[in-house]
Amino acid sequence: MSAASVSSYLGVNTQSHTVRKRRDPSVPDSRVPRRRRYLVCEPRHFAVQYAINPWMRPGEPVDVVRALDQWQALVDAYRAHGHTVDTVKPVPGLPDMVFAANAAVVVDGRVFGSLFHAPERRPESVPYEAWFKSEGYEVYHPESVCEGEGDLVPAGRWILAGTGFRTTREAHSEVQEYFGVPVISLTLVDPYFYHLDTALFVLDDDNIAYYPEAFSPGSREVLARLYPDAVLATREDAMAFGLNSVSDGRHVFISPGATGLVGRLAGRGYVPVPVDLSEFQKAGGGIKCCTQEIREIRS
Ligand code: ARG
Repeated sequence: MSAASVSSYLGVNTQSHTVRKRRDPSVPDSRVPRRRRYLVCEPRHFAVQYAINPWMRPGEPVDVVRALDQWQALVDAYRAHGHTVDTVKPVPGLPDMVFAANAAVVVDGRVFGSLFHAPERRPESVPYEAWFKSEGYEVYHPESVCEGEGDLVPAGRWILAGTGFRTTREAHSEVQEYFGVPVISLTLVDPYFYHLDTALFVLDDDNIAYYPEAFSPGSREVLARLYPDAVLATREDAMAFGLNSVSDGRHVFISPGATGLVGRLAGRGYVPVPVDLSEFQKAGGGIKCCTQEIREIRS
């Protein structure tokens, strides 16, 4: 890597709005970013036409120009931090197709497709599968309902898997069998946090941030056992979509409304990069929902 690309990769000469905060001197400034490949879908046909989560009010006007601007700012922020961004072409009549995370989960270059819970979203699988095929991937078709990275979250040595509203427990077994990676089942209990990626995100291979009250008591205990040093979020952070964030191991692309969480992450040596996707909250989505990570085999 050239010196120039290293500095842009490390975010040295990036965005003026990168948040820097006075940090706890006992926390080493050693967070290392890893280059990622993301798949996104332009919100050209984004709208709220049906209600499949408590955030959605059908007929609520969506400002598509604003949505397009906000989405473009997210793509620009990823690229400014050295990440690759691919796009799948949006299809008219699929207003939630912008939420690319739901279409699949990709681990070691293998694609586990989705079987959407809502009939309105099922047709999204077709254009996403076409994209994967055009890139040379085969797509596994699950037998049980599951919604990609919305509920199936690769976290280093295992996959954290949500259930309760969308993805079924049967799908968790199917994922484990397909990838041969241990799957940790977690039960979501609050309808506002209907997908795992609205209540938890992976900071790096070893740590996560999450909102404990979104989980059943047993699942909370599991998370506390696995992640004693997790960054905990409040309900305010979670309602501001602060847990629907994307981390490259150092930079955390996060909703600016989650002020408490932004401060806590900075205090732990991460670099929050605020990106406002408020228009997408009308559909119950945020940064992570709009982003699917394509994970190749790591060298
Ligand atoms: N309206 C969409 C739904 O309810 C939002 C999906 C958000 N995606 C996510 N990964 N949480 O399905």
